[in-house]
Amino acid sequence: METQIHGLTEKIADARSQATGQLQALSSLGDVQEWERAWLGPKGEITTMLRSLGTLPKDERPVAGRETQALRQELETAFAPIRDRIEREALDARLEDERVDVTLPGIDPQIGAIHPVSRMIDELVEIFGQLGFQAVFGPEVETGRYNFDLLNIPADHPARDVWDTILVDDPTAEIVMRTHTSPMQARTMERIDPPVRVIVPGRTYRYEAQDASHEWMFTQLEGLAVDRNITMTDLKGVLQEMARQLFGPERRVRFRCDYFPFVEPGVDFAVDCAICSGKGCRVCKQSGWLEMGGAGMVHPNVLRGVGYDPDEYTGFAFGLGIERIVMMKYGVDDLRIFNTNDLRFLKKFATAAVS
Ligand code: PHE
Repeated sequence: METQIHGLTEKIADARSQATGQLQALSSLGDVQEWERAWLGPKGEITTMLRSLGTLPKDERPVAGRETQALRQELETAFAPIRDRIEREALDARLEDERVDVTLPGIDPQIGAIHPVSRMIDELVEIFGQLGFQAVFGPEVETGRYNFDLLNIPADHPARDVWDTILVDDPTAEIVMRTHTSPMQARTMERIDPPVRVIVPGRTYRYEAQDASHEWMFTQLEGLAVDRNITMTDLKGVLQEMARQLFGPERRVRFRCDYFPFVEPGVDFAVDCAICSGKGCRVCKQSGWLEMGGAGMVHPNVLRGVGYDPDEYTGFAFGLGIERIVMMKYGVDDLRIFNTNDLRFLKKFATAAVS
């Protein structure tokens, strides 16, 4: 009996010195797990010792049990700070390893910008919206009927040649790329009765040699107002207000006689140059005036063509080139740059606020 107790006491002492010795040598997370499994785990040394208590004589069991439990307690107490230290060191090492310098400059995302022509369209829609005009959009592929006939340009009229038309497929069918936004005059009036107040932004196409001020594709803004008692004063007032909002409060508008078959009288209109106040500079090519487009009072034949009575209704129409306005407003001197996708040019418009 004595031998057994003695044997157990020895065993406990052995275990203590072994376990504590190993404890001092632990250095990695793996060591920690391994040690815990070997000594304190469900299949570890202490558990095995506790299980073997049953083989001792009854009266020795309590002492042996207490001593083994005491050893467990002792080992747990010694183990905890060592485990904590090693775990913390491992975590520190990992943090150091995966360190991210949040002060490094980020990678700028490439954010696109709205094209200057689209921005100008937005601006014009806004300006004319305040004046009671609604924006409408029409087809870019048109029939001769809308592009010419209903605009008082009959088939044999020489003015039909003026527009450098691009024909689609079979020339006899006269399907054309619209040469101006004016076809939407008739399309709109066919659909609604007066009062009419619309603007038509959109692309137009002409068979044209390209240079700094000519493109085969460009963008126009058409305007049309038809009602009782519309006069040229209204036309001038509307265009003056547009010029004022686009180019500043002091702007003046100039009308000169011009010919378009669908207006009578017809004019070209210009705005005095905001940059030099009309004195003459590079942007206005020393003339003091910026030419914006054509305009006039809607021809009675156009009104008749859509079933309006020209004795009851009158109207005005105008058409202007949107690229030209951007060029004048921002001093761009080559029309071709709008369609070359040159980021250096497009980025100039990237930061300005969208109106
Ligand atoms: N459609 C004409 C053009 O493109 C411009 C214009 C529109 C003139 C409306 C008068 C009235 O040249």
